[in-house]
Amino acid sequence: MTKRTCLSIILAAGEGTRMKSALPKVLHKIAGLPMVAHVARAAESAGGEIALVIGHGADQLRAAAQSFAPDAKTFVQEKRLGTAHAVLAAREAIAKGHDDILVMFGDTPLLEPDALLQARAELAKGAAVVVVGFRTDEPAGYGRLIKENGALVAIREEKDCSEAEKKIGFCNGGLMAIAGEHALALLDAVGNANAKGEFYLPDIVGIARRQGLQVVAIEASFENALGINNRAELAEAEAIWQRRRRRAMMLAGVTLIAPETVFFSHDTEVGAETIIEPSVFFGPGVKVAAGAKIHAFSHLEGATVGEGCDVGPFARLRPGADLGEKSKVGNFCEVKKAIIEPGAKVNHLTYIGDARVGAGANIGAGTITCNYDGYSKFFTDIGAGAFIGSNSSLVAPISIGAGSYVASGSVITENVPDDALAFGRARQRTMPDKGRELRERRAVAGKK
Ligand code: UD1
Ligand code: CA
Repeated sequence: MTKRTCLSIILAAGEGTRMKSALPKVLHKIAGLPMVAHVARAAESAGGEIALVIGHGADQLRAAAQSFAPDAKTFVQEKRLGTAHAVLAAREAIAKGHDDILVMFGDTPLLEPDALLQARAELAKGAAVVVVGFRTDEPAGYGRLIKENGALVAIREEKDCSEAEKKIGFCNGGLMAIAGEHALALLDAVGNANAKGEFYLPDIVGIARRQGLQVVAIEASFENALGINNRAELAEAEAIWQRRRRRAMMLAGVTLIAPETVFFSHDTEVGAETIIEPSVFFGPGVKVAAGAKIHAFSHLEGATVGEGCDVGPFARLRPGADLGEKSKVGNFCEVKKAIIEPGAKVNHLTYIGDARVGAGANIGAGTITCNYDGYSKFFTDIGAGAFIGSNSSLVAPISIGAGSYVASGSVITENVPDDALAFGRARQRTMPDKGRELRERRAVAGKK
């Protein structure tokens, strides 16, 4: 079966007005990735080419597709006349003569590659049309699978169902597989004589049956069919996605103390033996190596965390934060676009941005790299083994030499050479007895 060629057609021309959004529905995100991109990923894992049918918001979709499916061909459905009509927008791609045609909806982001592969397997066994169904106690709104003597004979949309048919709980999940050799003939035979006056893709089931072709229904979980129409359903899908990913992480050797409070992105990578404490959020682009500890209430995005690192609690790692082995970024610290070399410690209430912190350096509490003058960003270089005293401001561009010391409370505006000691603060003056004199003077003044 691996020799069979495949075309996946993803329908994404819907208006999606129920999202109440200027963004096309299928570009709303699950785990930081547009839902249509989740569908494209599933399609990729089934193999073959991808055709994306777009309509409403075509320019935005075309631009987004550049990043999530750069090889996909886009086709525009000018008028929204139904799902069969939408598939035919990709006529040119279908006519190329693939063995298997898969049709999926851009708004069903939890589709599993397994369902696609199963459907392809049925085509390989000789089916002309394969429907992926699911069972539900609340079938309202879905197309019902109509069977006679155990065989699927038609799919009937809700609005065209009789009262008896409305009680059927076996529904069309939306994913359909069509044998390439019959695809165009079946699709061209679809009419629009139904309650909505649309060209319905599911009608190819009845058409194929009448032509004596084999039609098969397979069953997948409800999640495969979960279509997103509003933001409440978007959140439901997010919750299911997160549950799946937390479980996969734990089975791969990551400890989640309170899994239901940890949120991953579609591309989060975490090594085995890493412990993630409660309430941690991963934005896109995070890689955590093995044996790290991410303490509670940390927020990571676009960051790399090396082996055995310690992060948080309450740490914020922003894009470009790159933590070397066994380094530490502690509570209430923010790191952005900075390399923290192995074993360095940035432990308390500190901002490190546009910087390098050399191996084994120690950054005292409240240290700030002053990297921005309102127009440009400037770089701070801190050498290996340097010690930055608490509450220091390092005004970039600046370089602090290896093995040097910066006195607490310094404002450093000039480069510090290796092994130097730099004071950047006013010298303290202490006046004996002046405190008592001041107190007595104030007390007399207060009585007047
Ligand atoms: C569809 C199925 C129904 C199935 C359900 C599963 C049809 C006629 N009905 O119903 O049997 O149970 O999905 O969720 O297929 N689209 C276009 N162009 C169009 C029409 C639709 O691109 O002209 C796209 C939409 O953007 C959407 C998908 O096709 O991604 C499904 O269309 P939708 O109108 O949501 O169909 P349902 O009523 O949900
Ligand atoms: Ca739908």
